Amino acid sequence: MTKIQTKLEDIKKVAKINEGKNLKYYILTMGCQLNENDSEKLCGMIEQMNYSKTENLGDADLIVFNTCCVRENAEDKLFGKLGEVKKYKEEKGTIIAIGGCMMQEKHIVEKLKESYPFFDIVFGTHTLHKFPEDLYKIITSKKRIEDILDIDGEVIEGLPIKRDDNIKASVTIMNGCNNFCSYCIVPYVRGRERSRMPKEILEEVRSLAKSGYKEITLLGQNVNSYLRVERENNIEIEKYEGVNSFATLLRAINKIDGIERIRFISPHPKDFTDDVIEAIRDCDKVCKLVHLPLQSGSTNILKVMNRKYTKEQYLALVDKMKAKIPNVTFSTDIIVGFPGETEEDFEDTLDVVKKVGFEQVYMFIYSRRVGTPGDKMENQIPEEIKHKRFDRLKQLVESQIEIRNKEYIGTIQNVLIEGKSKNNDNMLTGRTDSNKVVVLNGSDELIGKLIPIKIIADHMWYLEGTISK
Ligand code: 5AD
Ligand code: SF4
Repeated sequence: MTKIQTKLEDIKKVAKINEGKNLKYYILTMGCQLNENDSEKLCGMIEQMNYSKTENLGDADLIVFNTCCVRENAEDKLFGKLGEVKKYKEEKGTIIAIGGCMMQEKHIVEKLKESYPFFDIVFGTHTLHKFPEDLYKIITSKKRIEDILDIDGEVIEGLPIKRDDNIKASVTIMNGCNNFCSYCIVPYVRGRERSRMPKEILEEVRSLAKSGYKEITLLGQNVNSYLRVERENNIEIEKYEGVNSFATLLRAINKIDGIERIRFISPHPKDFTDDVIEAIRDCDKVCKLVHLPLQSGSTNILKVMNRKYTKEQYLALVDKMKAKIPNVTFSTDIIVGFPGETEEDFEDTLDVVKKVGFEQVYMFIYSRRVGTPGDKMENQIPEEIKHKRFDRLKQLVESQIEIRNKEYIGTIQNVLIEGKSKNNDNMLTGRTDSNKVVVLNGSDELIGKLIPIKIIADHMWYLEGTISK
């Protein structure tokens, strides 16, 4: 896989034009953490081009929408926002750029041209690094630009990055997906799986550690198949600290001084090999919360979803991890109302939820995505049934979380203190290894520290704690 180094000259050219103009940008990011990580890179480039951030659309000279298309509601959100920004374009010629996953869908770009023709730049998921060049062209020629590539982008290295947080950081380790789950649009908009080379990842993590970051989340659509495509196709993997798989990557990052916690999302159950389970067990910094997307608990539905595991295999994997990794906990993603889902299928999903006892469940109502096999299936589930099932699942999940939360009371949890509580400036907030929010009293010097906290009370979405003596 070829690597692309960013053309920093384009950044410099735009920066020069913008110098001293006190320009501002507004960015809206939709969707998953991978998109957020892309936005951090966009912000890094944009700030080097002499724009400063504003939260106010009306103040902006440049507006960027980084879109998602995994579910339908993101589309409604984008079109709503575009309606809102039209007046700014007309009044002060604000530059409007729309990028991300949704722009890889041809029917969406067509709709934009038809109904919102005032945009300046559309860019896809494979052309992020060309944003400065696109912006330069707009500023100098005012001609609308479409910079969308259908091919699988290469691995892009060297983009400046402006991170949202100074304790926790995300590091993308791979892009794209080869799984083609039948409900999912991702393989069509993010292209084929390709991994970053170990050296680049480890250097990024080391530099984050040097800047004081404590927690790293490794990101990818299918993290536990990191470097698999490269291994299977004999693509050269640059040798670096013996890393040639996800398990060896976890072990290498675990050795980096300064980093205290490692998380990763999302793995695929079918690729959860024993070496990864052993690495989670052995690496003290790897959190013992495993996000293990279930999607459905019914073997029939899993087959139609093309997930390549059965209900029994999923449960066996959970049991294996529970046996091998002390204190392991789980979170998951579940879709309700996939085409053909019967009452019995849905009950299988409830059954898995009961058996595993998830720490957190991200629940989604099935959303038809143009171009996916799921969209063409004839046995779509009526909206009303989908919503009813969603509510039943939610009720079960919340009742389980309530019980789980009570089990925390009286225990001592290692909590990474992240900052002041959003709702109460006098309190601090942090997270347990299992990603539960903990609110506590304490002084600001504790921010960024991993400390033992005694849990004293529980609420649905957070726990209360006190510094353990
Ligand atoms: N409808 C509903 N949920 C979906 N997801 C992916 N595609 C769809 C869809 N078409 C969910 C899956 C995935 C999560 C990121 O989004 O649960 O794991
Ligand atoms: Fe979508 Fe399945 Fe790939 Fe996840 S593994 S991104 S759900 S196709």
